[in-house]
Amino acid sequence: MSESIAERIAALRDELNFHLHRYHVLNDPVISDAEYDALFRELQALEADYPELATADSPTRRVGGDAVDEFVKVAHPAPILSLANAFDAEGLREWERRTRRLLTQTGQEEARLEYMVEPKIDGLTVVLTYESGRFVLGATRGNGEIGENITPNLLTLAALPRRIPIDRQAGLTHPVPGRLVVRGEAFFPLDQFDVWNEGRLAAGEKSYMNPRNAASGSLRQLDPKITAARPLTLLCYDIVLADGAIPGTQWERLRWLKALGFPIPSEIAFCRDIEAVIAAYEGWLEKRNQINYEVDGIVVKINDRRLADDLGFVGKDPRGAIAGKFPAQEKTTTLLDVNLSVGRTGIVAPTAVLEPVELGGVIVRNATLHNFDEIARKDIRIGDKVWVKRAGDVIPYVVGPIPDLRDGTERPIEPPTTCPACGEPVRRIEGEVAITCDNPACPEQLVRRIEYFVSRGAMDIGSFGSQTAVLLTEKQLIHDMADIYFLRREDLLELEGFKDKKVDRLLEGIEASKAQPATRFLTALGIRFVGSVIAATLLDAFVSIDRLQEATQEEIEAVYGLGKETAVSVVSWFQDERNLRLLEKFREAGLNFAVDRVEPVGEQPLAGLTFVITGTLPTLSRDEAKSLIENYGGKVTGSVSKNTDFLLVGENAGSKLTKAEALGVAILDEEALRAKIGDRG
Ligand code: IVH
Repeated sequence: MSESIAERIAALRDELNFHLHRYHVLNDPVISDAEYDALFRELQALEADYPELATADSPTRRVGGDAVDEFVKVAHPAPILSLANAFDAEGLREWERRTRRLLTQTGQEEARLEYMVEPKIDGLTVVLTYESGRFVLGATRGNGEIGENITPNLLTLAALPRRIPIDRQAGLTHPVPGRLVVRGEAFFPLDQFDVWNEGRLAAGEKSYMNPRNAASGSLRQLDPKITAARPLTLLCYDIVLADGAIPGTQWERLRWLKALGFPIPSEIAFCRDIEAVIAAYEGWLEKRNQINYEVDGIVVKINDRRLADDLGFVGKDPRGAIAGKFPAQEKTTTLLDVNLSVGRTGIVAPTAVLEPVELGGVIVRNATLHNFDEIARKDIRIGDKVWVKRAGDVIPYVVGPIPDLRDGTERPIEPPTTCPACGEPVRRIEGEVAITCDNPACPEQLVRRIEYFVSRGAMDIGSFGSQTAVLLTEKQLIHDMADIYFLRREDLLELEGFKDKKVDRLLEGIEASKAQPATRFLTALGIRFVGSVIAATLLDAFVSIDRLQEATQEEIEAVYGLGKETAVSVVSWFQDERNLRLLEKFREAGLNFAVDRVEPVGEQPLAGLTFVITGTLPTLSRDEAKSLIENYGGKVTGSVSKNTDFLLVGENAGSKLTKAEALGVAILDEEALRAKIGDRG
């Protein structure tokens, strides 16, 4: 080996740091994880054999150094400033007006105000010091003057550059300064936070209320091995100090930081005036929940940083930048009570009754408590002060209690033993957290099932509202979903508020829904896991509800896009006698049990021909045969006449066959039909 050990160690160190950067900063790895691991292990082995050659900035140190007793205080080389807040578009305009006034007073009214808009990342601020391109110190913000040395913990962050590649500075606008202090935010990516926090709860450990607390708690661990095991990452956005020239605008500074290997936020925008800033702010209000980290606002910075610095400070807030805060999505309030409701699948769900609280622009009075396991795990009690969160479109939910604020009057929440609607005993589904009421006659479940059946995504009966569902169930005019199709005009007219016109509209809506395609009907049945997409997939594969009924779990699972859960649910639904009786009632009402396939190629060999079907066909059900004929352009009618072109016969054909023979109507069987349309299947 011509290479000395020291050289090999240095080369491995640089190579691994390069790949860490590609992976964590550029999101563009150039080697596989396995290749990375191999290099990593080689370095680890060499460092173990030659400990005197191991350096503090080695990538192997990311697994966590030695524990410390307490954090050492460090004085920041320059104040780590805070930011003033604006809470809406007007607040941002007001800041711009203030700035202009100041510029006028100092004779700079000609100055152009352009801005950078960056996400305000809700994590833990970190101050990173580099000397001669090497990471030497990482600290918390502390009080802005003095922070805590958390270097060993920061070294566990894969996204943290440990060395700025000075040898590659040829392309830089400004060379790497001898001393460089960078400010950034360490945080948990949201997807990883949820998984990790759930894992803690499952392991019986204390869960964190939000990603920010988790980031702060994780970086303030005395044992870096704990930090190393957590999915923390980093984004940088400011230069605190540099003993050398640095770019003059924020835009260039971010690009320069990126070129040096620092991870910077990708969601940044250059704005030529304050209205563009406001447009960006409003855009952020829409997309804030789509970003994989917590964002509590935007930070608006005057792009010309020298101009910004000249404006000075108010207290600890620089005048040249402002935070445009978003309305809070998380607040505390009091849990007044817990309501129980029964869903259409029988699941008994707990809902929190809250002291009303404004969240993200709306008043929240109720929030979901998910299920009783969750309540028990988080030890939520009635009377507790709780954190409530609402993010975008999600239903507000109770994050957890604040036990420190208890006064002893709080009451535990007991899971129910009987159904809140019908009083029958409830059951826990094995292996699941849900508590369910199995009573098929449970009135609340029936109401929920009917609401779902008539809803827009299912049978879409616009004239059938939620109140109608409640009323008709209460008055016992409906005992199951199919009863909708057997409602009698005279019974409806007796109901309060049901005048002629209203009854007409209701009955017309119901009648029209009979023509809804089979996929909607299958969706409306409300089989667990079978929403509209799965319903379409199922009927694509099995064509009719009758064929689906005969399908085995294996057959269903074999369909692309379907899983075991769905297959088990469908099969067990069709095993329930009550559901089969329900289906017969629907059939009697004349609903569509098979899909009308529209022939894409437009080949219509049966165009203009009229068919009648009789007897039991070898492979096709009546509905399937009807669909098949219609797909190829034919028409199917109920009785034989001189206008009938073909009688499709199966076994045990009856009077229709006799009549067809008498009228001289052509007779064919399933095989002959398939031959006619060129289908061998
Ligand atoms: S700039 C003069 N930019 O928000 C520079 N701060 O009070 C002042 N923060 O905890 C900070 N994202 O650490 C800036 N893109 C960003 C930021 C950001 C998050 C934090 C900052 C501080 C708070 C502002």
